[in-house]
Amino acid sequence: MPLLPPKLQKRLAPPLKIGSLEVKSRVLQSPLSGVTDLVFRRLVRRYAPNSMMYTEMVNAAGLCHVKQLPRIMEVDPNEKPISIQLFDCRPDFMAEAAQMAVREGADTVDINMGCPVNKITKKGGGSSLLRDPKTAEAIVRTVVQAVSVPVTVKTRIGWSDREITILDFAKRLEDAGAQMLTLHARTREQGYHGSAQWEWIARVKEVLSIPVIANGDIFSVEAAVNCLEQTGADGVMCSRGTLGYPFLVGEIDYFLKTGQAIAPPTAVERLECAKEHLQGLWSYKGDRGIRQARKHMAWYAKGFTGAGELRDRLSRIETVVQGVELLDGVIARIQAGTFPEMALSCLM
Ligand SMILES: Cc1cc2nc3c(=O)[nH]c(=O)nc-3n(C[C@H](O)[C@H](O)[C@H](O)COP(=O)(O)O)c2cc1C
Repeated sequence: MPLLPPKLQKRLAPPLKIGSLEVKSRVLQSPLSGVTDLVFRRLVRRYAPNSMMYTEMVNAAGLCHVKQLPRIMEVDPNEKPISIQLFDCRPDFMAEAAQMAVREGADTVDINMGCPVNKITKKGGGSSLLRDPKTAEAIVRTVVQAVSVPVTVKTRIGWSDREITILDFAKRLEDAGAQMLTLHARTREQGYHGSAQWEWIARVKEVLSIPVIANGDIFSVEAAVNCLEQTGADGVMCSRGTLGYPFLVGEIDYFLKTGQAIAPPTAVERLECAKEHLQGLWSYKGDRGIRQARKHMAWYAKGFTGAGELRDRLSRIETVVQGVELLDGVIARIQAGTFPEMALSCLM
């Protein structure tokens, strides 16, 4: 575990100010499509009660047509702070959807300008806005006018390595009224491959006055500290590091506040958490929840030897009872000392 440099601790001690909103944590849980539903966020928040969390991205145009909130936009009235993330390229749809988001309880509205998926970029949304800064500005300006909560943007550094446009793009968004920028330090072309290019976060931080949140490759407390030191960012956002590991945001937050590392969860604690996640998805979404739970269960069972078979079986469960029996069986074997590989080499 690294030492927490006193200068860094002091810099990060005040609350994160997103426009008029003060957030008591500098560690954020990213929006993750198919993952960050209400059930998952509840688990993350147990260990990181003050952190900003995001819904999965919501299609603004779909919302305006249907006029009905999709499940992925549902927010628990007790979960705060919470941001609802929207995508589309039409300012008027985005503005109307943003108003619906605020009525649902969003503390901020986040605009997705980073999604690399073809289905979205072909229609002008997500990361394709990096190539259309005028529309990106218009979206921010229109949404800012439509809602009273802060409007933020999550984007990438550019379309490709030959087209890194973030310095100009970020300034335009700030001038249009964005109150915070989260930067996933990869290009659209990189997708989720290669390393995040944190050096661009440092450069963006130099040209903006609004908070800049660093995203990309924050898989551990060490990575968070290194990234905050190297970039001067105002906070970090965790993403894939939380898949099957809803403890990460809380671990980083605790370290940044105290300089102390929390003991990582034991294998049993992780599997108990997996069980709670499975039961939560079942009660919230029924059979669809079980289908979604399969991938989560496989993530929880990753990273320790002897778990291959468990992972395989968990990724094929048909009912909540099957999943709970499997998990309880392994928990009992660990507690009885008959599953030594897992107990000894549990993922940290
Ligand atoms: C399964 C998955 C779903 C994602 N969904 C979203 C999303 O809905 N909105 C968004 O802005 N980014 C989304 N992202 C991108 C992440 O929020 C994050 O920017 C990216 O994974 C980089 O961080 P990492 O290297 O720490 O994973 C998604 C990424 C993954 C892997």
